[in-house]
This record gives sequence, C-alpha cells and structure tokens, in this order.
Amino acid sequence: MQRRDFVKSSAIIGMAAAMPRFGFAEAKGSDRIKVGLVGCGGRGRGALCNMISADPNVEITALADLFPEKPAQALAAVEKHVKKLGLNAGEIIDSSKVKRFSGVGCLGELLESGVDVVVDACSPAFRAPNFEKIVAAGKHAFLEKPVCIDATQARKMLELSKKADEKGMCVVCGTQRRYDAGYQEMIKRVQDGGIGEIVSAQCYWNDGDYVGRNQLRNTELMWDTMEYQIRNWFSFIWASGDHIVEQHVHNLDAVMWALGDNRFPVEVRAWGGRSTDLPTPTYGDRFSHFAVDFDMGNGLRLQSYCHQDPKTAREQGERLIGTKGVMYSSLGGKVGFQDLKGNTVWEASKPEIPGLVAEHKFLLDAIRNGKQVNKINQLVNSTLLAIAGRLSAYSGKKFKFDWVLAKSKENLCPEKIEFAKKMPWNGVPVPGKFQLI
Ligand SMILES: NC(=O)c1ccc[n+]([C@@H]2O[C@H](COP(=O)([O-])OP(=O)(O)OC[C@H]3O[C@@H](n4cnc5c(N)ncnc54)[C@H](O)[C@@H]3O)[C@@H](O)[C@H]2O)c1
Repeated sequence: MQRRDFVKSSAIIGMAAAMPRFGFAEAKGSDRIKVGLVGCGGRGRGALCNMISADPNVEITALADLFPEKPAQALAAVEKHVKKLGLNAGEIIDSSKVKRFSGVGCLGELLESGVDVVVDACSPAFRAPNFEKIVAAGKHAFLEKPVCIDATQARKMLELSKKADEKGMCVVCGTQRRYDAGYQEMIKRVQDGGIGEIVSAQCYWNDGDYVGRNQLRNTELMWDTMEYQIRNWFSFIWASGDHIVEQHVHNLDAVMWALGDNRFPVEVRAWGGRSTDLPTPTYGDRFSHFAVDFDMGNGLRLQSYCHQDPKTAREQGERLIGTKGVMYSSLGGKVGFQDLKGNTVWEASKPEIPGLVAEHKFLLDAIRNGKQVNKINQLVNSTLLAIAGRLSAYSGKKFKFDWVLAKSKENLCPEKIEFAKKMPWNGVPVPGKFQLI
C-alpha cells in the first residue's frame, strides 16, 4: 500500500487529519516515518540520534524550538551522527528539506508540517501543555521524562492519555530502564519471586555536582525574566519541578515497575534543603537534596534519596530487599541479585541495545505494526511520587499520598510564554513555612 493510500483506506476517513497514521509495515519498508522534534537541546538531539540508531527508516522532517539558534544546532548534531553510522544523510535528514520553526508558536507549526511522530524534549514544565497540542493534532509521540511537574499537570496528563487512546495514538516515554534488557530480566525475576516477598526498598540519584553549576546560560539576561528561567530551567522550581522530579523520577519509576505498577504509597514524609554555595536567585530557588520516606502500606517502606552537591559521592540506582535476597540495579552499572549474606547469585549481562535506543525501537515497531501503545499513565504515577516527595520536603509536612492527585491545586507553569515577563520570586522553600495548596 502506498503512503498516500493509507489514510484513504483507513476506517476513520473524515477524522484522518486528527488521527495518527498506522500501517507503515505494509509499505514494505519503503515508507519512512516522518519525525519532528520540539525542544532541540541536548536530549532532543540525543533522542533523534537514538531513534535513528534504533531504526534508520525514518526521516527527520521538522525541528522546532523556542530559540532560533537551536534547530540548526540539532540539525548539525544529527547529521554528524547519521554520517558516523555510515547512513545516507540525504534520506534521513536532508538539510535542504528539514523545516525549522522557532518562537512560541513553533510546535503548532511543526504539527501542521506533515510529521507522523513528535519527539518532545522540551524542559519539564512544557510537556503537558505541549502534549495537549500533540493530542489535538493526533500525532504519535515520544515524550521525555518527566511528563508533569505538579498535580494540576498530572491530572491533565491522565485526561490527555485517555484522549490519546481514543485517537489510537502510540505514546512512549523516556524511561530507558524499562527498555534495558538487563532491567527487564531482573524485574521479571523479582516478580516471579526471585528475592521472595519484598520487605524494603531504596532508590538513589546522588549526583557529584549541582546540574547547571558550570552551565548557566545567557547570563546577560536579567535573572527574573521568563526567558532567563526557561534557558536555565534546571535551577528553577516552576520550570523543572526540582531535580527530584526531573531526574530522580527515573529511579522511582524503576521501583514502581518492580512493585508491579499498582502499588502506591499510603503516606509520605520527606526532608530536604539547599546546601549548595551557588547564589540565589541567579542559580534559582531549588533544593540541592531530598530524602523521602514513603510508607507503601503492609509494612513496606520505600526510602528515596537524591542530591546534587559538588564534589560529593555519586550513586545512582535501586535496591529491593526481599525475604530471600536483595535486588540491586544501576543503569549502565550492575544489575543483579545477592543472597541475604551479600553473595552475588545472579547478574544480568550487559544489554546489546541500550535502553535509550530500545525505547525508540519499541515506539517505531508499534507504529509500523499498527499496535497501539501508551506509557503515559505509568510515568504520571511515578512522577506523582516525586512531586509528593518534593511537597513534603518543602513544607516539612507528612500527608496521605492520595491527597496530591485528588486535592493539590499547585499549578507552577505560567499560562503563556512571554520572554520578557518578570517572574515572581518566593525564595528557596523553607520547611515549616512553605504552604501546601
Ligand atoms: N531520559 C533521559 O535520560 C534524559 C536525559 C536528559 C534530559 N532528559 C529530559 O529531557 C528534557 C530536556 O532536557 P535537556 O537536557 O535537553 O535540556 P536543554 O535545555 O538542553 O533543552 C531543552 C530545549 O527545549 C527548548 N524549549 C523549552 N521549552 C520549549 C517550548 N515550550 N517550545 C519549544 N522549545 C522549548 C529549549 O529552548 C531547549 O533548546 C528534560 O525534561 C529532561 O528531564 C531526559
């Protein structure tokens, strides 16, 4: 079946413009999936390179970013990767054909440019507003993590996830552990009872530096303008959700997966603060460290730790303690089981395909085979743990986990992007003073 015939033959003629295209496999590999990227920063470029490594039968047709210099940078990086792989750049990313969009309306233009799939690698605050537009346009999507930064966005994403299902969209999220063969084997063994009944869990993302320490961007801008804060999003709570949400969500997500994606905390109590010597407000208002104690019910506790302090010990991974053994995992590091005396009893071999590549193969295979997939809800759930941990640490309060999704009215992302707008400054949250809303 030719590309142009597919939409015609679809049972949903009439709604075709807002519905995604399936059935690329029927074109016997000659039909390239057209990909557009919104958010042409470090991860956006990386995601396109990973996607091409996963399946070169794609064509990057559009690049969009708020800032005009970014699409060209992404184009150059992806072209370089394609050449390194020895592939034909003219077929995969032809610089004379790639459409480049910038400014506040760039995603809208990209969605109208004829793409089949959108990769969203914008900073965290914009994932939910962007996804609303992607769903309205009915495009398949790859969404970087996190998928929400507060409860308002979490509720929105759950609603949009339903609409994505109704439209038959394929949506995969950037949780690469879930696509790593070593992790997959480990979680299967845990769920088959390999370490017995789980009685305790821990996860960590302790970084050896404050992300952004040496990367403060566009410092000629005033720190209180929206543009400065968007460009330096990793330092500002409203733009990133803080590093517990932006980064540590990976580890919380792996634990939620191991626990079956159906076990939620009952109560949350967290601690945290800002111990970095980097000055506020230029380096933002976020915390540098969090420790969270999730009461998971039935005697199970999950302790989660993350910090970003310069020159401190690094550690990243997950640990589950069972009645028969211990599971330990770290992406790119060791993944395996120990007995209760600390002897290694099983270790996964290094996966042939990195999770960062395999996640794109999963999405593209689903689209080609007409098999709908939607991974939003599981990541909303894990992100809610991070949001709850952040709120408990900021406020110093202990609360029921259910409160967050059901009641929290926090709504951090401004309605509109206005570069020159002066952003309010509330200072670094102070436990005991910060008000939960
Ligand atoms: N899965 C992973 O391992 C992984 C790794 C790194 C980053 N990430 C995630 O990817 C996202 C981007 O991180 P990054 O390191 O690439 O940041 P970055 O600052 O390098 O890139 C973000 C880009 O998005 C653009 N942008 C922001 N808001 C936009 C909007 N509304 N419309 C269009 N463009 C917009 C920015 O101008 C910038 O070019 C974050 O959510 C981060 O958590 C995931």
